Amino acid sequence: MNDKERFSQVLVDCLEGTLQQSDIRTRIEKPKFAHLGDLAFPCYELSKIFRKSPQTIAEELAQKLASPEFEKVEAVNGYVNVFLKKSTVSTMVIRKILNEKNEYGTSHIGENQVVTIDFSSPNIAKPFSMGHLRSTVIGNSIALILQKCGFQPIRINYLGDWGTQFGKLIVAYKMWGNEDQVKMQPIKELLRLYVQFHEAAELDESLNEQAREWFKRLENGNEEAYFLWSWFKDESLKEFARIYELLGITFDSYHGEAFYNDQMEAVIQQLKENCLLVESDGAKVVTLDEYSLPPTLIKKTNGTTLYATRDLAAAIYRQKTYHFTKSLYVVGNEQALHFKQVFAVLNKLALPWQKGLVHIPFGMMLKDGKKMSTRRGKVVLLEEVLNEAITHSKANIAARNAEIPNVDQVARQVGTGAVIFHDLKHFRQNDIEFSLEDMLKFEGETGPYVQYTHARACSLLRKGDFQEGVEIASFNDDSAWEIITLLTEFPTTIERSLKEYDPSQIARYVLDVSKAFNKYYGMVRILDEEQKQVRLSLVYSVTVVLKEGLRLLGIEAPERM
Ligand code: ARG
Repeated sequence: MNDKERFSQVLVDCLEGTLQQSDIRTRIEKPKFAHLGDLAFPCYELSKIFRKSPQTIAEELAQKLASPEFEKVEAVNGYVNVFLKKSTVSTMVIRKILNEKNEYGTSHIGENQVVTIDFSSPNIAKPFSMGHLRSTVIGNSIALILQKCGFQPIRINYLGDWGTQFGKLIVAYKMWGNEDQVKMQPIKELLRLYVQFHEAAELDESLNEQAREWFKRLENGNEEAYFLWSWFKDESLKEFARIYELLGITFDSYHGEAFYNDQMEAVIQQLKENCLLVESDGAKVVTLDEYSLPPTLIKKTNGTTLYATRDLAAAIYRQKTYHFTKSLYVVGNEQALHFKQVFAVLNKLALPWQKGLVHIPFGMMLKDGKKMSTRRGKVVLLEEVLNEAITHSKANIAARNAEIPNVDQVARQVGTGAVIFHDLKHFRQNDIEFSLEDMLKFEGETGPYVQYTHARACSLLRKGDFQEGVEIASFNDDSAWEIITLLTEFPTTIERSLKEYDPSQIARYVLDVSKAFNKYYGMVRILDEEQKQVRLSLVYSVTVVLKEGLRLLGIEAPERM
């Protein structure tokens, strides 16, 4: 429980049920100036209920308010201002962290409910771009946060392994490709073919027709088409596996679009039975006028199915298989309409679980202010970025500390941490400008800065020979108040990031803790003999929340760097 929570609880009792605790909590403010206390409760709105002036109410409340954690309570200008007893609050939170360790901040909000989370989901035969990095790291972090809050996340990598682009690729491969070249550099070569196709198709429209033909053959099980498709898929999966390994990310399911091929007919049947399928220029659509949405195309004139059809089948399959209470889709803003349509069609089918479907959108990763496009070959390859980040980190670590034994491991942790943090520190809806230089900075608001702060704290614990199991009598150091307040806010920060599906709140939080700690470190002689064990218990608490906060972002925290 944090200070706000406790203050609101005391207020509930004093107000004898006039307001709910949650109402009180949202009204509690942090005074702008320290001389006005640590927390304030405005009494203006109560004035109507009690028919007294706000100041009178504040004075009466101040009389009644009592708690061992309050140093002083004042009524000023219609506010009840509370000054917390710093030593009591500090001792309580540090004791709690010493006891709970990395369980601090864990909650049971989720009551073990299953939540599926569709994230990463790159497209086969295309490079794993920086754009897909966003979905990957945001999704992974949300899954970790869900778990911390007592949900049971099911991580699904819905591979883009079906669709007309395979028709294009087959046409391009047959015209300009050869086996050896693909084997040598699979993804690069497949990308080259894909780009070449689009260039050629601009001059010769018939190529697109051929591509549609080949995709149709693929859907009908044509042997040559199927052979090429599975070969391209195998090669792509090998590359993706290397990236997930670097990032330390795993999935519970890799069922991609192709997995749903034989479930498509059932979906179309279900739509027919509910009289939802309408003929339009030879194609089959579901109209969504009542949702003010354009119709969803379910089946093309030539009989092939679409992205939306496959997502319908996948949603139904996931409910049948996992019985989720929520089903999340971490996919870019530009697919917002697609998800609105898919969710609306399921709503028209009157499926009760449809309410649990949530699209979690995010902004684009821009390059020089522009969208990166696979078609034009304008992509930044994630694997190259990660490897460059790791090499750079290694040099940086070597320059500051030559005696690290596992330098390659630490370089990987720091390099990938830099890339992940750069993404997650921004609110996900904002666009991000890709900048390798910004990502790799060891100072400022970066992952390495937080990791370095953690490692520095760990080194203090080693130097001071900190004893983990020892209780502290009391913590009395007002100069640590900023850190203490932050420590008490860790659980509510996690809860907020869960409610808003927003890892950036945790990223901001670990930055704030790092800044506060580094300030304290510069001000106080932590290893001062008399205070050593007590101060180190604060340092230890900082390492716990930094490590756990970083873990929730999908970032490791090395103890030396
Ligand atoms: N493969 C798609 C893309 O890269 C993302 C898939 C998102 N998930 C879904 N269920 N549609 O654009």
